[in-house]
Amino acid sequence: MLSGRLVFMSVNSRIPGFYKLTPPERFKTIVERSGLSEGDLASLAATDGKMLAIADRMVENVVGTLPIPLGVAANFTINGRDYLIPMATEEPSVVAAASNMASVARIHGGFRTSSDQPIMISQIQVVGAKDPQAARLRLYERRQDLLDLANEQDPLLVKLGGGAKDIEVRIVEASGKTYVVLHLIVDVRDAMGANAVNTMAEALAPLVEQITGARVRLRILSNKADRRLARVRATYDCQALGGPDVVDGIIDAYAFAAADPYRAATHNKGIMNGITAVVLATGNDTRAVEAGAHCHAAAQGRYTSLSHYEKDDAGNLVGTLEVPMAVGLVGGATKTHPVAQAAVKLLAVKGAQELAEVIVAVGLAQNTGALRALSAEGIQKGHMSLHARNIAVAAGADGDEIEKVVSRLKDGGHVRLDKAQAVLAELRQSGG
Ligand code: MEV
Repeated sequence: MLSGRLVFMSVNSRIPGFYKLTPPERFKTIVERSGLSEGDLASLAATDGKMLAIADRMVENVVGTLPIPLGVAANFTINGRDYLIPMATEEPSVVAAASNMASVARIHGGFRTSSDQPIMISQIQVVGAKDPQAARLRLYERRQDLLDLANEQDPLLVKLGGGAKDIEVRIVEASGKTYVVLHLIVDVRDAMGANAVNTMAEALAPLVEQITGARVRLRILSNKADRRLARVRATYDCQALGGPDVVDGIIDAYAFAAADPYRAATHNKGIMNGITAVVLATGNDTRAVEAGAHCHAAAQGRYTSLSHYEKDDAGNLVGTLEVPMAVGLVGGATKTHPVAQAAVKLLAVKGAQELAEVIVAVGLAQNTGALRALSAEGIQKGHMSLHARNIAVAAGADGDEIEKVVSRLKDGGHVRLDKAQAVLAELRQSGG
């Protein structure tokens, strides 16, 4: 730091063999390369040895791990059964809002869910077919051969009742070219399914080339998991929400999101605050679920709200949500990460479909919580205590100082870094 300004050193990022080093060796290397001290970067590497070894097996070039707060949402009853729901998130108020709305939903029986079978789609892109329409039909004529070859790749999945079940062949016109696109429809049972369907798609490529007389390019799953939807509905008690005006406010907020993509993006982000937190806690692929959700929000040709709200005869709020939910219980980080394993144990779900339904219930609760706060007191009030704590820590407060700074910030009504720094300086000057 020079007169409050950061000075950036240029680094040489070319590190041959970096991936072959151990995490501590990599850490030492990046300290040397960065021109910073070990102390400056210590937090990047601070982790326990067991977690570090696991992380090193999960991804490449590991130097450390990033602990994210893991909260447990309370009060959820889903299809008549209570759940304690682990949520991993860095955002204040998310776990509290989900728990609060779950307690309101409980009054009228909690959340009711349903879901599709765990069906994923793998895409095989065929380029340069001379007779795309005929090639499309030739693929259908060989449906059974294609399915048999796909299923040879994963006998265990087939034994469990899953496997490739059908094909669908589309013609996609793009930039003056015509692609024949084969969809392999696969029941992935309790897996998220990416590995299973990608392996099948790769194995089918030579046969697809033979049938179409053209070249296969991409062979990869689609994150538009629209045959794997999870659905939830809940009735929120009008009085417990804050009365008829709050219910009307939530319905206005929903109508705004349904009509306006600018608002819909934020509305759906609120839903994903809940969904992503459970997806992450259970070691599932957050980006896959987010891609699927936002794609679903535009499924009618215009980006809109994923959830819907209406009123029942008694004036209670009825919320519904439907989202593609590609999550699994076998494979990936769900099986290798000890926190994810414990999170799944805590949920005590019997299969991936039940997990998908729990996740979508949290998404609805999260959305209702945000809309309730926005329609009543605004969201900043709820955020303030945790936000003030973060600001106090960012200002340098430590130990007992944190709560003292928080309380003075809240009394002063300005939760800002400059105020926190001033309060902390005063506190230290006056000896506490
Ligand atoms: C903040 O993370 C999420 C909200 O913006 C969602 C919404 O506006 O509905 C509060």
